Amino acid sequence: MWKYSLLFVLLHFVTGGIVRRCSTSSFADPSQQLQVSIIVSSVPKDKVARRLILSWDNASPVDGEWIGLFNEEPSSSSVPLFVVQPQSSSGWVETNSHETASPSHDLGYIKRCLGFWVAYVSADNSTVVASSCLQTEPTWMSDLEAELSPLLLRQIFLPGTHDTGAYEEYNSSSESNLIVKYTITQEDDILSQLINGVRYLDIRAAYYPDTDEVWFVNHGLIRIHPLQSVFDDVRTFLQNTNEIVILDFHGFPVGFGSGLAVHEKLLELLKNEFGDFAAPSSLTWNVQLGDIWSTKRRLLLTYNDGAMVERSEILWPAVSHQWGDVQTLDNLYKYLSGVMNNPPNDKGWSAMAELTPTTLQVITDELGGLRRMSEMVNQNVTTWYRGIWGQTVNIVAADFFRGTRLVEAAIDWNQIRAQQLACSIQ
Ligand SMILES: *[C@@H]1O[C@H](CO)[C@@H](O)[C@H](O)[C@H]1NC(C)=O
Ligand SMILES: *[C@@H]1O[C@H](CO)[C@@H](O)[C@H](O)[C@H]1NC(C)=O
Ligand SMILES: *[C@@H]1O[C@H](CO)[C@@H](O)[C@H](O)[C@H]1NC(C)=O
Repeated sequence: MWKYSLLFVLLHFVTGGIVRRCSTSSFADPSQQLQVSIIVSSVPKDKVARRLILSWDNASPVDGEWIGLFNEEPSSSSVPLFVVQPQSSSGWVETNSHETASPSHDLGYIKRCLGFWVAYVSADNSTVVASSCLQTEPTWMSDLEAELSPLLLRQIFLPGTHDTGAYEEYNSSSESNLIVKYTITQEDDILSQLINGVRYLDIRAAYYPDTDEVWFVNHGLIRIHPLQSVFDDVRTFLQNTNEIVILDFHGFPVGFGSGLAVHEKLLELLKNEFGDFAAPSSLTWNVQLGDIWSTKRRLLLTYNDGAMVERSEILWPAVSHQWGDVQTLDNLYKYLSGVMNNPPNDKGWSAMAELTPTTLQVITDELGGLRRMSEMVNQNVTTWYRGIWGQTVNIVAADFFRGTRLVEAAIDWNQIRAQQLACSIQ
């Protein structure tokens, strides 16, 4: 018991000495503080992708205050690339700047800024009231290891990607190809997703015995990348960090047939690739994160086939996808409200925070493709999960996740959850 009290005392230091009274439930809610952020848009303009968006929250704008985008750490002599004067307490504004893709292997495993900063500046230019940079998050879990260790796996907020393997960098021919428009869900490869903070990967594995590669990651019936590239990225990330990752085999759209023979082959592959990292399913979703860290088995292989889960100690029951199959923002909100009011509580689950076109909508291209569809919801999804839904959600999986602030929301909420748990145990 005193261990947790000590943790709580430590928390006072890391949270800047703010005295939090455990007897009240008034924890610092991340959705209450002035914050500025940089987001990467999913929608290209004039054939240029990765355009930067500035976002701010909880401002009380005074005449003359401004928010600037910079390509250096802002100081009084910095010249902004872009300036906006906030008219309301929160907002998202597109800039004319864009990020250049860095090869994922160059991103590194130490958190760093990626060349752009945003600052909220007072009217007389004397004070930076809030600032941040576009940054990687390769170590956010292990950075908080002491705080997060007492939390159970099912009590943590993990940022995820929907159809993780359907990534492809945008190029000028992407928009004329209907298949690309409706199968590609992410801009960044899996190593880059992980380095940018994602910890839940939603994989659809497929088997093509008549091709050289044999194993692929698919989006539905469309083959996207060799499965080996997924394995290589996940292994590289695990080897270079102390993070916990969920690799969820959600679907097996091609080549698995009705028996277990192909599943058995995939299991053999998984054992070879990840035998030393795979956590035993006997830990269950009621395990404390600290116990996962102490086993040094930081990869959860979840698998959407009950018979296989029973056959292997390294396959965990699948993450339950809470998927609305909806086509509008309002229906996504209604659907996810229902989920948040009555979440599954005995296993891992993911709020699927994206729109899904109907077949007819794909044929007519009525919604303009998945990039535009994710832009229709990503700002609101961010607001919902930075707000009160962030208190209880387990996993949120988005399309073009860098168009959201889910990683930041997860980091903030997990710290609050850890403080609340420490208080409830005291
Ligand atoms: C503050 O800085 C901005 C951006 O560099 C500039 O446009 C503005 O004139 C400055 N205002 C004052 C009061 O110096
Ligand atoms: C553009 O991307 C598509 C897949 O999205 C790929 O097949 C094609 O080779 C790429 N073109 C160029 C010029 O890189
Ligand atoms: C989505 O965000 C916009 C802009 O903040 C807001 O006006 C609208 O009410 C939000 N919609 C939902 C369903 O949350």
